[in-house]
Amino acid sequence: MVTARAPATSANLGSGFDTFGVALSHPADTVSVERAAETTIEVTGAGADFIPTDPEKNVVGAVADALEAPAHIHIDKGVRPSSGLGSSAASAAAAAVALNELYDRGYGRHDLVPVAAEGEAVVSGEAHADNVAPALLGGFTIVRSDDGATSVETNLSLVACLPEVVVSTRDARGVVPDSVSMADHVETVGNAATLTAGMCRSDPRLVGRGLDDPVVTPARADLITGYAGVREAALAAGATGVTVSGAGPSVLAVCEPGRRRAIASAMVEGFADAGVGARAYQTAVG
Ligand code: HSE
Repeated sequence: MVTARAPATSANLGSGFDTFGVALSHPADTVSVERAAETTIEVTGAGADFIPTDPEKNVVGAVADALEAPAHIHIDKGVRPSSGLGSSAASAAAAAVALNELYDRGYGRHDLVPVAAEGEAVVSGEAHADNVAPALLGGFTIVRSDDGATSVETNLSLVACLPEVVVSTRDARGVVPDSVSMADHVETVGNAATLTAGMCRSDPRLVGRGLDDPVVTPARADLITGYAGVREAALAAGATGVTVSGAGPSVLAVCEPGRRRAIASAMVEGFADAGVGARAYQTAVG
């Protein structure tokens, strides 16, 4: 048996829609695999009842197919499905690493990015790699449309606050505008470049500033009950920037060192003010 762990991730980071991602130090999924004639899947842990075990409908089934590596696959979920924290990517990445080793396929972590992204297509209808790249490579990652990925180590405190509301990736993609104005394009490029510089310097102020996004985040914020209040509460508690994590509903805050606990409490209270229960992960780029 081979076991692998892959972390939760936060994609987009505001200005880097479908491009940027970070690995979170926790939570994480753990996947164990044993050789078998046909792929079978068993799921335990957070939200296990909502995850299909049919290999045709589960991300890890697609990964096993892509690697021609049939196996009995046990997924222990630490990352709740439909959280905006890369739940399916964590399973896909851990399965890709474990199956690669089980069958001695010899692929490197970068080679496994498009393999794990195949699994994402099962869930969202499109293969995008901005969650699987950080889940496999760690740190801050940038994916390109040719499936290439670059990763940068960084040191940054974060809070990811997960409310008890459901936002499907399909719905969240449905509200993304089809086009952008030149003014919004220029603003987004400036913010994305600022964020990248901030990641390279482990500078929470630059990263927080670079999260701003005039295009996708405002369209999606309306899908998350309480988002505006939670954002305001996190900023008032000392967050340097706040955005929707992935397709939502989690909300991500970038923190100055030492402010994480206060920001986590403020965000949970912000959701409570909107009548929504929430849990906050005090985490970091992993
Ligand atoms: N970049 C993707 C999105 C991440 O925002 O739709 C969610 O899978």
